[in-house]
Amino acid sequence: MLDLGYDVLSARQFDRDDLTRLTKVAEALEPVARGEVVCRALEGAVMANLFFEPSTRTRISFGTAFSRLGGTVLDTSGLETTAIVKGESLYDTARVVSGYADVIVVRHPTPEAARIIAGGALVPVINGGDGEAEHPTQALTDFFTISKELKASGRTIDGATIVILGDLRYGRTTHSLIALMSVFEGLTFHLVSPEALSMPDQYADIARNRGHQVKVFRTLDEGLAGADVVYATRYQSERFQIDPQVREAAERLRLDAASFRRHAPEHAVILHPLPRDEVFGELSTDLDGLPNLAIFRQTDNGVPVRMALFALILGVADTLTDHFREP
Ligand code: CP
Repeated sequence: MLDLGYDVLSARQFDRDDLTRLTKVAEALEPVARGEVVCRALEGAVMANLFFEPSTRTRISFGTAFSRLGGTVLDTSGLETTAIVKGESLYDTARVVSGYADVIVVRHPTPEAARIIAGGALVPVINGGDGEAEHPTQALTDFFTISKELKASGRTIDGATIVILGDLRYGRTTHSLIALMSVFEGLTFHLVSPEALSMPDQYADIARNRGHQVKVFRTLDEGLAGADVVYATRYQSERFQIDPQVREAAERLRLDAASFRRHAPEHAVILHPLPRDEVFGELSTDLDGLPNLAIFRQTDNGVPVRMALFALILGVADTLTDHFREP
């Protein structure tokens, strides 16, 4: 259960009640995220943003979320700026930083790094992406966006068909997404990827074990059929060598306006956790004029969702509106 002092390490931790609660708090905080209302509920609190891997959205949106709630953000970008390069362990680093901050957000290239840091820290730890494993707060943002986008057209998540397209092996956001969305009922997942980049069973089985349909496709015509949501992802070339065969298969799965119009229903919502790879073009910029493309609404949603998470795990969620005032 999402509560005070909680570490956020995996999307598997959340149940449906958690998502309902998080949504309620995030919706209340949307005017604060947009700067239309001031709320300093976390005044005096400190967040340590430890990013040992590149990031634009996650690092900055966590920083914005904490700052908009009146807290102070300590930012570290890159292993080379820390004593880890002198041989300090992650465990020791975590214990030390937890003496300086009330909450730690961490991104690290190694799966399980967030868990090690949570083991050393005396304060809540939030996983901002651990190697090829998980990215739970991206999944919370994706859930919030899917829920809003479907609601706007009279649809619900229950019973939806969700297409997850691209690098499903190394794309950590897809692992967290399938785990999180599996708390809903009667979903159909279409997993569309080159064979070598299929989603590992440990994640696909979360959906199967909850009774959802999981169908694997290698082509866009089959994969996009019946989609309510198309969630495209980047090929994670920093984590593996793309051989010519995989590249060819990936090229056939590029989503552009023509392939979307040809194969997907008119109402399908298009998401991508970003960054999109402009050179490779897995999500073409020729989709940018389509109202279906929700990628920037998705990035904007990262702020109220992360604010809500801080409010819940730092115990101020129930008193937030007492702090609301005009800018
Ligand atoms: N979606 C995401 O994790 O983006 P960044 O790598 O820019 O944080």
